[in-house]
Amino acid sequence: MSPLRVGVAGLGTVGGGVLRLLDQNARIVAARAGREIRVTAVSARDRGRDRGVSVTGMHWHEDPLGLAADPDVDVVVELIGGSEGPAKALAAAAIAAGRPLVTANKALLAVHGSALAAAAEAAGVALGFEAAVAGGIPVIKALREGLAGNRISRVAGILNGTCNYILTVMREAQKDFAVVLAEAQALGYAEADPSFDIDGVDAAHKLAILAALAFGRPVDFAGVHVEGIRGVTALDIAFAEELGYRIKLLGIAKETAAGVEMRVHPAMVPKAAALAQVDGVFNAVLAEGDFSGTIFLQGRGAGAGPTASAVVADLIDIARGASIPVFGARTSDLADTPSVPVQRHVGPYFLRLMVVDQPGVLADVTAILRDHGVSLESMLQHGRKPGEAVPIVLVTHETSEAAMNRAIARIGALAAVLEAPALIRIEPS
Ligand SMILES: NC(=O)c1ccc[n+]([C@@H]2O[C@H](COP(=O)([O-])OP(=O)(O)OC[C@H]3O[C@@H](n4cnc5c(N)ncnc54)[C@H](OP(=O)(O)O)[C@@H]3O)[C@@H](O)[C@H]2O)c1
Repeated sequence: MSPLRVGVAGLGTVGGGVLRLLDQNARIVAARAGREIRVTAVSARDRGRDRGVSVTGMHWHEDPLGLAADPDVDVVVELIGGSEGPAKALAAAAIAAGRPLVTANKALLAVHGSALAAAAEAAGVALGFEAAVAGGIPVIKALREGLAGNRISRVAGILNGTCNYILTVMREAQKDFAVVLAEAQALGYAEADPSFDIDGVDAAHKLAILAALAFGRPVDFAGVHVEGIRGVTALDIAFAEELGYRIKLLGIAKETAAGVEMRVHPAMVPKAAALAQVDGVFNAVLAEGDFSGTIFLQGRGAGAGPTASAVVADLIDIARGASIPVFGARTSDLADTPSVPVQRHVGPYFLRLMVVDQPGVLADVTAILRDHGVSLESMLQHGRKPGEAVPIVLVTHETSEAAMNRAIARIGALAAVLEAPALIRIEPS
């Protein structure tokens, strides 16, 4: 059989990894694909850069759009990045030219995934994006194919390795966020501009994609509630430990009576839960199916090797001629289930207040919570320093986000409450 000819746009971390994998594992890949997978053309900005991989004999395109028109390219692999600009233009051009597209670009799919899926479907070409979520963990395949027979009620994951690394070191070394972020940047675990990671945007891109697959509906990035980890303190991590929880940046998509809730935020997870035990740069995804029960996948969510592994899995599917709808069902069969705003969330909460240690403060706080129908499961207060600031920690039973916010607005206005209350949602598993 003739080789599958691949054009790769972007020869950075992931592009270099893909070329290395296809070279090193050429025989294994050819056996599984049923034919050779050969890179025939590439594109990057700087032709002179030594990338540690050979591009000899491959067409070099100054403009990545050239790959979509190259007669020696059967499949285009987009590894440039960014939701707009050359990545978006190349994706559209490849599909319009009737070429299957493989991409690792979660930003592109979160923002334009529905339009690209519709275009790919109309053109009758494959669109592979296993590498876009959780790197080397085959979570797209697991949700779209392995769990295809299930009604899925919840997907929850640790979807950003940088955040998980920072939170892990904060806990283990009892250091503050800013110190650990600076160390992570020096070690290359965080970008010079880390905002996409630490503000939760990267995890939200991935969650929007997972939610589309899990709930069979179009991607709705705008419907994801996003909070990052800048506000997580060493103090709250220590309180979480004492109460039997770990703080993780989670992406959670959950079916509710009103629609699909999608949230990315620091969450307290019981220490015994599988997600609580995923540390360092690792990623993990948990999915609950009505027939499968809970499945849990863990692995490396980024890096040249794991991400290349996912890209090549998509190429092997395309080489075999596998044809699976982009988001698991044809565009016309996707549901119009709405996204539910976070104000409708119901669950337990951790609330930490810094208060002046004086008689009556706790009574005032608990009276406000009672007025808003919020009941308490437990409370922590260490030592006494009359007249000075002390932390009080309260853990609530299940309550609505709206009630909690109204109560906090009143609590924060009390004269004895010295700073904005810290509120962290608790995720039971
Ligand atoms: N890194 C990871 O671990 C990882 C994991 C999962 C998903 N991803 C996704 O994979 C994609 C690539 O990430 P990466 O980490 O490999 O990025 P990267 O190391 O920054 O590489 C980007 C590549 O794109 C090339 N490029 C940029 N603008 C271009 C243009 N206008 N025309 C042609 N080439 C252009 C760059 O060329 P030069 O080399 O000449 O500058 C570089 O080779 C992103 O969508 C990212 O979100 C990455």
